[in-house]
Amino acid sequence: MNRKETVIVLDFGGQYNQLIARRVRDNNVYCEILPYTTDIETIKQLAPKGIIFTGGPNSVYDESSPHYTPEVFELGIPILGICYGCQLMAHALGGKVISAADDSVSEYGKTETNYDVQNNVLFHDLPQNGISWMSHRDYISQVPSGFTVTATTKNCPVAAMANPDKKLYGVQFHPEVNHTEHGSDMLRSFLYNVCGCKGEWKMDSFIDDTVAQIRAQVGDKGVVLGLSGGVDSSVAAALISKAVGKQLTCVFVDQGLMRKDEGDFVEQTFTKLFDMNFIRINCQDEFLSKLKGVSDPEEKRTIIGTEFYNVFWNKIRESYGSGFFAQGTIYPDRIESGKGDAAKIKTHHNQVGVPQDIHFEDIIEPLKDLFKDEVRAVGEKLGIPHELVWRQPFPGPGLGVRVIGEVTAERVKILQDADAILRDEMDKCGYADKMSQFFAVLPGVRTVGVMGDARTYSELVAIRAVTTDDFMTADWAKIPYDILGNVSNRIINEVPQVNRVVYDITSKPPGTVEWE
Ligand code: XMP
Repeated sequence: MNRKETVIVLDFGGQYNQLIARRVRDNNVYCEILPYTTDIETIKQLAPKGIIFTGGPNSVYDESSPHYTPEVFELGIPILGICYGCQLMAHALGGKVISAADDSVSEYGKTETNYDVQNNVLFHDLPQNGISWMSHRDYISQVPSGFTVTATTKNCPVAAMANPDKKLYGVQFHPEVNHTEHGSDMLRSFLYNVCGCKGEWKMDSFIDDTVAQIRAQVGDKGVVLGLSGGVDSSVAAALISKAVGKQLTCVFVDQGLMRKDEGDFVEQTFTKLFDMNFIRINCQDEFLSKLKGVSDPEEKRTIIGTEFYNVFWNKIRESYGSGFFAQGTIYPDRIESGKGDAAKIKTHHNQVGVPQDIHFEDIIEPLKDLFKDEVRAVGEKLGIPHELVWRQPFPGPGLGVRVIGEVTAERVKILQDADAILRDEMDKCGYADKMSQFFAVLPGVRTVGVMGDARTYSELVAIRAVTTDDFMTADWAKIPYDILGNVSNRIINEVPQVNRVVYDITSKPPGTVEWE
């Protein structure tokens, strides 16, 4: 992998740390988030082109607040301190940081800022005034010797500072946030004009390098991968297939709880487009028999998770329990921002625990350094269909969480049919791309209706559709009434067990995306 050019994002616990890393990579520079507890020797060995100190929730005067050895400022490596990182730099080098006793100097949100565009390379060629995004209580009242003030605001005497001779720069605001006008230009200028980066981080070279690396590692052995049909495992599978072809075996456990026809779509995609052994285990009956009579959502999740684990590993034990095991872990699965321990691996749905009796030579995680949008870019370059690369999030337990109450084959089928109509209508009218996620739910409610001259007492279907950036919060999608009307008509006409359709207009919070 091309790692010549690395920038380190040193994590002091700020909320935007992943965003900083994303912005650096947007500029074709590879970067890694490391916790502030990382030993300076490790940093020296990595020989980064630059280091970015992130923000953080602390005050430099708190005893427990994260610090870093001042030796880092002597390495000759360019450093950009952001918010808390800027205060830390000022404090460590003899400047003055004031813990604002009142809120007169604290700034939150969009703030008018004046930049020294003549003398500061970060702000060169930018307008002299602009909006920056601030979020601080403490402030720098005096810059360290050798530094000059390079930006100010009404309340903040040092909104940015610089010591170009030592290649040390600090900004009190957050250039990584979209609200900071020209923030990405400032970061780019740091990377290219201060650090001297060339922009070598490209997805094409990532693919070539990773394929070569996998080939060298695997030799003539086998690789087995659990394919869920989600984006991450699909891209990992395509990448490994490109590297070792038929030495790869993908095991796809179809528990019969996917959206309509999705199991077939996954099978066709991987058997037709890629060179690999593809094993599909159809086991809806087994899953449904385990779920019989169970309606508690947590219990359903546990049963589905356990059954999946058993089915999957039993298959592996049969014939693939050697060689290498691959999984679609991606970068955000590995980092716990702000915990100061980025190396600690979170237990995550992308990472499957290997049973103790199965011994692989090693685990291959070809996407472990990529963010989700980088994974998608790789997927598209590898020729995975758009539909799969841009797949909406789908819960691990599948429709088990969307069929409320007991999960039976008949109820799964009703939901799949209604959901397929919803997707078809959204695709046809071009509204699908306007939403982050949309699906049908079968709440298990029966209502009275009248169809023809007859009274009906049938299932209710709910439509859930949301827009969101991160799924932590979400707004219900404002789908035009006529589109909703078409969906409702079609579901009632085409799915005989349903006589009423409702639309969920709850945001998150207070609701969640899934109903469970
Ligand atoms: P909630 O319902 O918590 O969902 O608002 C937020 C997002 O997470 C998805 N989701 C899951 N994704 N495994 C996953 O990979 C799961 O078990 C799971 N449960 C919920 C949900 O679809 C939504 O996008």
